[in-house]
Amino acid sequence: MYSEKVMDHFTNPRNVGEIEDASGVGTVGNAKCGDIMRIYLDIDEDGIIRDCKFKTFGCGAAVATSSMATELVMGKTVQEALQVTNKAVMEALDGLPPVKVHCSLLAEEAIHAALWDYAEKNEIVIEGLKKPKNDIHEDEEDGEEY
Ligand code: FES
Repeated sequence: MYSEKVMDHFTNPRNVGEIEDASGVGTVGNAKCGDIMRIYLDIDEDGIIRDCKFKTFGCGAAVATSSMATELVMGKTVQEALQVTNKAVMEALDGLPPVKVHCSLLAEEAIHAALWDYAEKNEIVIEGLKKPKNDIHEDEEDGEEY
C-alpha cells in the first residue's frame, strides 16, 4: 500500500534532528491523531535555506513526508519553499494512500510555521505566507492535548 519511496523515507529518514539557534522553528500538531511535527530551518542572509531538520512524533507517513519535505526545501529560497505543498511532497513520494493524505499536511504546515517564526524574528513579511493554524508554541504545550 505504500510506495517504495515512502518506505525508504520511513525506514531511513533524512535530516532527523535539531538545529541549534535555528532561524525558524515550527511545531504543528494534528488534533485528531495526536501526532506532532517540528521543523527547524537555517536560513542565510540571502533568504536561502541552508539546512533543515525535523523531529516527528507520529505515524510512518508523517515521518516519510517530513523527511521528503526537508529534502525539498533544502537550498531553496523562502519563496520557493512556500511552493513545497503537501501535494508536492506526496508527488515526490509517488503518492500516499488516501487515508494518509492528512499526514502530509503536517509537513506543509510545519514548514509554514517555521517560515512564520523566521519572518517574525526578522520582522519581515513573506508574501503569500499565512499565519499557521496548528502552530504549537512551547508555552502553550502544558496541559493541552493535541
Ligand atoms: Fe497522524 Fe499520520 S496518523 S500524522
